[in-house]
Amino acid sequence: MITPETAKHAQGLLDFIDESPSPWHAVAMMEKQLLEKGFTRLEESLAWSLRPHGRHYVIRGGSSLIAFILGSKPLPESGFHIVGAHTDSPGLRLKPRAPHQTETMMRLAVEVYGGPILATFSDRDLSLAGRICVKSDATLHSRLIRFEQPLVRLTNLAIHMNRSVNEDGLKFNKQNELPLLLSSLCDAESPEQKFFRLVADMAECKPSDILSWDLNVYDTQKGSFWGPELEFIADSQLDNLSSCYAGLIALLETEAPENTCVDAFFDHEEIGSESNRGAMGSFISDVLERIADADMPRYKQALARSFMISADAAHAYHPNFPNAYEPLHRIAVNQGPAIKVNANQRYATDSMTEAKFIELCRQADVPYQKYSHRTDLACGSTIGPMTAARLGIPTVDVGCPLWAMHSIRESAGVLDQAHLLSVLKKFFAEPVAQIV
Ligand code: CO
Repeated sequence: MITPETAKHAQGLLDFIDESPSPWHAVAMMEKQLLEKGFTRLEESLAWSLRPHGRHYVIRGGSSLIAFILGSKPLPESGFHIVGAHTDSPGLRLKPRAPHQTETMMRLAVEVYGGPILATFSDRDLSLAGRICVKSDATLHSRLIRFEQPLVRLTNLAIHMNRSVNEDGLKFNKQNELPLLLSSLCDAESPEQKFFRLVADMAECKPSDILSWDLNVYDTQKGSFWGPELEFIADSQLDNLSSCYAGLIALLETEAPENTCVDAFFDHEEIGSESNRGAMGSFISDVLERIADADMPRYKQALARSFMISADAAHAYHPNFPNAYEPLHRIAVNQGPAIKVNANQRYATDSMTEAKFIELCRQADVPYQKYSHRTDLACGSTIGPMTAARLGIPTVDVGCPLWAMHSIRESAGVLDQAHLLSVLKKFFAEPVAQIV
C-alpha cells in the first residue's frame, strides 16, 4: 500500500533526479546532502586521518563518488558493506565543435552516449547541462552549468514523409539525423559565436574563456506520479539514479555502525566502466585500501569479510510484450527488488550471495523477486561483476523493476523504491548472515 512515507521517499527521488540533469550534477547533489549530514570530503591527493565512526566521501573526475562511515569494529573483523550503483544514463552528448549552420538552421552535433532508445528523445523539451572548463585570471576552473528552459529539440519527421513509421519503427541515422535544432535566427553571429555566448552567459564568463565542455542533453520535464493510486513514477534516469538515491539515503540515515559502510557510485557504467573513475578502474580499490591504512594483510582480510550489493534497475514485466520475457521469471512493479541471476556472470549473483540477500529482505520485512533473462536473448550487465572481479568480494546484483529501460522517460513503482531503501538500511546496520 502507498503510505505517506513511501510516497515521500519517491518524491525525494524525483526531486533528486530533477536536480541531477547530468552525472556531474548528480554527484554535486549527493555531495550537498552528505555535507548537510556531517560528512567531510577527503582529497585523494592529500593524507587522510581516519577515526572510528568518521563520515567521509571522495569524488573522482567530478562524476564518481565513494562515501563511507567507518565502523566501530576492527576492519578485519567486520569488513566492508558496500552498496554499488552508477551515476550515468545513456543519451546524447555534445561534440567538441557542436554548433554549425545547415541552410537556414543552426544545429548542434551530438554523439550517442551508451545505448539510449533514440526514438524517445524526439519531440521532447530538451536542454543542456553538464560542466565546462573556463580560464580566468590565468587559472582553470571547472563549472557546472544548466540551461533551465527547453533549448534544443530533436523534431520528428512528419508521417507523410515516413509512411511506414508505425510498422517499421522510428529510426534515426546517428550521424545525419540526430543533430539538435537550436535556432532559426541567422544574424551577424556565426553559430559558434552564438553558442559560446549562450554558454558564457550561463556560466557568467567571457566566451573566449571557455576551453572545453562535457554537455549532456536532458529532458526538462519534471518527474511525475501516475496511476489511480499514484502508485507509479515516471522520470528520466531512473536507471540508475533510483539506486544511487536509495544507497545515499540509507547511508545518511545510518548512525554509528559496527561495520564500515560504503556507497560506491560510478560514472561510465553505460559505456563499459573502463575509465579512471569507472567500476573497472582503480577508484574503489584505491579508496578501500586507504580506509585500511594501506596495511595489506589487514586490507585483504577485510575484503574477505566484505559483501557488496550492486543495485541497478531490472526489467519489469510488460503485459503488452509477453514474449520479450522469460515466462518463469516475470517480475512485477511494486512487488519488491529483484535479485538478478545469470549463469554466465553477466550478474555477479551466486546462490550464496542470493541467499544472503533473501535473508536481509526477510529481516527488513521486504518482498523480493527473482529475475533471469530470456535464454535466447543477450543479457545486459552492470557494475557487480566488475567490482567483484576487481576486489574479490562476494556480490549480489539486485534492482527495482522498471519499464522502458534507457528511454528518456522510464517508469517504475513507488513501493519498490521504499523497499530497496529498507533493505539497504538493514544491510548497513547489521552483520550479513554467515553460511556454514
Ligand atoms: Co543501469
